[in-house]
Amino acid sequence: MQHKGYESAMPQFHDYFDDGPVRWTQKHLLGLEYLSADEITLILDQAVEFKRLAKAGDTKLELLNGVVVGNLFFEPSTRTRTSFGLAAKRLSADTVDFSPSGSSLSKGESFLDTARNIEAMGVSLMVVRHKTPGAPEFLSQRIDAAVLNAGDGTHEHPTQGLLDLMTMREKFGDLQGRTVALVGDIRHSRVARSNIWGLQKLGAHVIVCGPATLIPPEIEKMGVEVSHNLDAIIPRVDCINLLRIQFERQRGAFFPSINEYAHLFGMNGDRLAKAKKDVVILAPGPINRGVELTPDVADGEHSVILEQVKNGLAVRMAGLYLLHRYQQQQAGISK
Ligand code: CP
Repeated sequence: MQHKGYESAMPQFHDYFDDGPVRWTQKHLLGLEYLSADEITLILDQAVEFKRLAKAGDTKLELLNGVVVGNLFFEPSTRTRTSFGLAAKRLSADTVDFSPSGSSLSKGESFLDTARNIEAMGVSLMVVRHKTPGAPEFLSQRIDAAVLNAGDGTHEHPTQGLLDLMTMREKFGDLQGRTVALVGDIRHSRVARSNIWGLQKLGAHVIVCGPATLIPPEIEKMGVEVSHNLDAIIPRVDCINLLRIQFERQRGAFFPSINEYAHLFGMNGDRLAKAKKDVVILAPGPINRGVELTPDVADGEHSVILEQVKNGLAVRMAGLYLLHRYQQQQAGISK
């Protein structure tokens, strides 16, 4: 269904940009470390509104007409890539998709030249995933387009962090005072870092739990509690986010065997029975069934894994939309 009169359907929108309590002033979306609690809340509220509109049948919003979104994925992706693509289409933008396979990277073209050439096709919003921490920020300093970080190595995955926050907020309303456990491969996880920044800014207490080899040294300096005993913390937590073992980023053996990891840190029915009755189980995906969690937990009543994916679409629409509106505002174009 086409929805041409979005502003009239959502009159409060202009408050965000004109006279409202929060003003969006970010050109790029590079990490939750760089956003205030108010800015995080603003994106989440915008995502909630997009989700509400989609549920009401407004699946095509004419908000990014004529805008070109570049999706540059230098690493594999299923959820982030497809949802950014669909988010752009739902906002009526055109999209350009890039992946290394079959590209001129194989002829020696650089990362920056690749991005500059794609930008020259009229891209004003550039979504970037790269294995190197800081790659999106590097681009943001060298191109005119707004850059949205879709995951940079072990650094941050801000839209994943936002969709996790949105999903937890849906369950609990407010995250102030809630306790959230991030379990697993904290050392290699960009999702862990974005969750830690975002959850703490919204007032939650964060416990990171895993084998000592998979917890970065001095992570306590980020303000989190550290545990190596999942059974001990389970009864205390409201949410458990089960992070994937990132075998592709590990250069050594961080635990003796998969079976041993699953035995000590995998979520299963017996452990779930010791948790709070309304505990929420999250996993950013992809999941290794039988490693981070058993299939009965992944598909069970406490799991919100597919709700996370659904919220990812709304969050990415919100990110694209807010950055585009900021560009318009900077160019002196108002609606
Ligand atoms: N959670 C996540 O980033 O999934 P993808 O790697 O499939 O995008």
